[in-house]
Amino acid sequence: MTRRDFINSTSASYASLLAWGMLPAAPASAIDLSANGTGSDGKGRKVIILGAGLAGLTAAYELGKLGYDCTLIEARSRSGGRVWTIRNGTKETELGGGAAQTCAFSEGQYYNGGAARIPHHHEITLQYCRELGVPLQIFNGANESAYLYNDGGTGDLANRRMRISDYHNDMRGYTSELLAKALDQSSLDQQLTKEDVEKLVDFLKNEGDLNTAHLYKGTNRRGYKSKSDPGAGNVPGVLTDPYGLTDLLRSGFMQPVFYNVGDYAYEQQTTLLQPVDGMDSIPKAFEKKLAGKIIFNAPVKELRKTENGVRVIYQKDGKPVEISGEFCVCTLPLPMLKSLESDLSGTVKRAADFIPYMKTGKIGLQFKRRFWEEDDGIYGGISRTNMDVNQIWYPSFSLQGKKGVLIGYYNFYSRAEAVGALPVADREKLALEQGGKIHPQYKTEFENSFSLAWHRTPYSGGGWALYDDATRKKYYPALLEPDGNIYFAGEHTTYLTAWMAGAFASARRTVEAIHARVGQYTKK
Ligand code: ALA
Repeated sequence: MTRRDFINSTSASYASLLAWGMLPAAPASAIDLSANGTGSDGKGRKVIILGAGLAGLTAAYELGKLGYDCTLIEARSRSGGRVWTIRNGTKETELGGGAAQTCAFSEGQYYNGGAARIPHHHEITLQYCRELGVPLQIFNGANESAYLYNDGGTGDLANRRMRISDYHNDMRGYTSELLAKALDQSSLDQQLTKEDVEKLVDFLKNEGDLNTAHLYKGTNRRGYKSKSDPGAGNVPGVLTDPYGLTDLLRSGFMQPVFYNVGDYAYEQQTTLLQPVDGMDSIPKAFEKKLAGKIIFNAPVKELRKTENGVRVIYQKDGKPVEISGEFCVCTLPLPMLKSLESDLSGTVKRAADFIPYMKTGKIGLQFKRRFWEEDDGIYGGISRTNMDVNQIWYPSFSLQGKKGVLIGYYNFYSRAEAVGALPVADREKLALEQGGKIHPQYKTEFENSFSLAWHRTPYSGGGWALYDDATRKKYYPALLEPDGNIYFAGEHTTYLTAWMAGAFASARRTVEAIHARVGQYTKK
């Protein structure tokens, strides 16, 4: 009996099927436009979509389901935009006189240069992976065995690597101890009864693993001394000693770069996911559904409004080509829109001019040996440092394989700007020198690298749109309305900037708006 047969034949309620995991929950954001349509279809109306990144691909896919005739114009020779997996043969030449790079990773080695993790609550992303048959695996984002490294500080714990687990347990222990002491002396909130205080102290005792006197004296949660784990027979194991509170405080670990993002940030809590074989599995799956609809190697040169719609001029094989349609879905990142010849309104042009984008970069470092697993017991996760490399990401796939590619830096703002300004050979040198302080094995195990700076990457010009309250208020609204027959989509038209879910949601919003405009769909 197939799953479908079972569902069809059973008298079980929808709710119990859902509870048994027999039906995927329909995400709220994944509205079924065709089911909600009040008319027949898009009737072959022509839509020109600028950009075959996730927003463009999704718009074409959903509009296609509704009968629209879509053409995607893509400047690059690939789809996906900022969903880009770097593997053997990947080529890029950055803006501003960057040298041509060709990736020399071994077969099966890769890293995700852009989007690299899917939060478990990004239902729209998960829904598209399900619909398109993109298999997922766990992305390990938070690993207590990874390291923290404060470079250049003065305290005893600076300039040496520290396991995240040691830091977290010690800080939880000391802060719990201090609060327990304060509560014991009834010096806190008088609204708490004696019983309330006892319960709270019990919580703190557990949270910080305090002893019966409510003191933090270390914990087996930090693990055991090297080669002194518990074993068979009379081997109870030797616990590690906690660091001192003042040593922790005075060694630079209170800088934001060391905050416990993995456990606390909504988007980074377990479980995170990633497609098997690279994030580009998602755009590739869309491409299969959009055969013949994408024009590659076709940078857009002009975007014009016409009496009945839009006219787009793109460059193809050195010549300008013109294409007209009733609607345009423009998904170009704002740094690209900025320099486009167009009839766009002043408010849209100002949005493109004044909404800044994140400067951010990554480097993939291929090593002969997965020393982070073999020597350090690190399987996935992220080490953090105040050095320019900022974050080191360990791969969550091909565990215990022969070779591996680390993300040797993932940085932002001025760190990304400084590193991204370097020639690729110097970026590699910097990644090896700084990362080598945390992993001395870099020196002997390194093979090759491929680096990128999104703010210097052609056709992207930045990592993602960076809004603050002022720009949201002043410029964002112009991107939410159609400008004549031109609609805007992409993460920059959402409150989910920097996430694939934003690109997906923006595309659906635009499809809904176009379908409503032609009278085929009534918004509920
Ligand atoms: N969403 C981006 C990340 O996961 C910013 O790092």
